[in-house]
Amino acid sequence: IDVPVIAVDGPSGSGKGTVSRLLAEQLGWHLLDSGALYRLTALAAQRRGMALDDEAMLSTLASKLDVRFASEAQGASVLLEGDDVSLAIRNEDCGIAASKVAILPSVRAALLDRQRDFRVTPGLVADGRDMGTVVFPDASLKIFLTASLEERGARRLRQLKDQGVGANLPSLLRDLAERDARDARRAVSPLKPADDALTVDSSGLDVRGVLDRILTFARERN
Ligand code: C5P
Repeated sequence: IDVPVIAVDGPSGSGKGTVSRLLAEQLGWHLLDSGALYRLTALAAQRRGMALDDEAMLSTLASKLDVRFASEAQGASVLLEGDDVSLAIRNEDCGIAASKVAILPSVRAALLDRQRDFRVTPGLVADGRDMGTVVFPDASLKIFLTASLEERGARRLRQLKDQGVGANLPSLLRDLAERDARDARRAVSPLKPADDALTVDSSGLDVRGVLDRILTFARERN
């Protein structure tokens, strides 16, 4: 039988991560945080002193990546080669490094099966940039979640403050804009809505509001 997938794509800071996690919880489905795989590839490369544009080395690294996603009572943790890197992969530098390795076609190809392996009954919520266009083109529901750059920057600032990480808005906005541009301009799997995606603008909506809208779409599809 076909395992249903809800694809949630969109730019950095649109709230995809939070919305996808809550959606998966509410439905009792699995969650794929595909951005984490690109972040982990970048982190593993940096640990080895690899250049972030060495496509051959990086794609081999990506295909062999020793990663475990552990879900614990305190929250999900991510292990890279046995080390808990849950916090390390969340900082903005790692996001920027991830967007550099994500340009490379053979790195993307190396991560494809690993992402598709998450498609297990009863269903999957997949969070990323190309979930609806490339990884799960047959997804039952495709959401493209957007928000203005200012709103995304303000949200990211709040998120980092909550984690006790210092940041300033102007440099966050610069980083987000740089990452968006790289994600949207790349030749392979650029950030763009699938033809059959429903766009949700989360500016001015809280998480509950976004979640309700997506759940309504999901019900209409069934
Ligand atoms: O979503 P997140 O901010 O964790 O993603 C980090 C980076 O990984 C993105 O800026 C993007 O370049 C890349 N990415 C991607 N395709 C995905 C998910 C993330 O290219 N499906």
